[in-house]
Amino acid sequence: MIYDVITLFPNIIKSYCLESITKRGIEKNIIKVNTINPRDFSKDKHKRVDDTPYGGGDGMVLTCQPIFDCYRSIEKKENFEFIMLTPQGEKFSQNTAIELSKKEQLILLCGHYEGFDERIRIGLKPREISIGDYILTGGELAALVLIDSISRNLENYLGKENSAKIDSFSPYLNGALEYPQYTKPRIFEGMPVPDILLSGNHKEIQTYRTLQSLQKTQSKRPDLM
Ligand code: ADE
Repeated sequence: MIYDVITLFPNIIKSYCLESITKRGIEKNIIKVNTINPRDFSKDKHKRVDDTPYGGGDGMVLTCQPIFDCYRSIEKKENFEFIMLTPQGEKFSQNTAIELSKKEQLILLCGHYEGFDERIRIGLKPREISIGDYILTGGELAALVLIDSISRNLENYLGKENSAKIDSFSPYLNGALEYPQYTKPRIFEGMPVPDILLSGNHKEIQTYRTLQSLQKTQSKRPDLM
């Protein structure tokens, strides 16, 4: 999977991706994360990428020219999708993460300041995605959320146990929350591990986990039931 991130703050993307599992994914050649800075494409003599809004109002708006030229400079694979990170977009979900993990290339456009000149939407027709009903200062954190959650669904990304299959919201649990997990020690500060998990009876453990998963969903997220 190739991620091409259009961002004015490439270091935010790079510093996250060069740690932990994303770093391993890059080393294993499962993902590639490129950053492209619209400022490098600005034809303004001061390399500006934003300007004041027509009609007045606070803040600055990202101008068309650097974004259009930056987007057009990216080599497109056959099976790519162009995504704008914006609070106005469709709400991101596990299903969308799985859907997008089947693409060959994702071009992720991060906004900043007061937003984009509307003609970026009209002219480049991105798919607009929001990671939730709150406003971030920029799209970089949202792009990283997508990179992280989409990559988890790629073959061999998480290692051979592939725990993405049992994660909360995964279709493997029919959209319910994940069952509770325990590890050593057997008793911690008087709190024991449930006996059933030590029984070795895999069928009963499976039933117990399904029940726990449903109970957890009912109490924490009844909207998912
Ligand atoms: N940019 C600013 N806020 C955002 C959000 N909630 N989702 C995606 N991109 C954003």
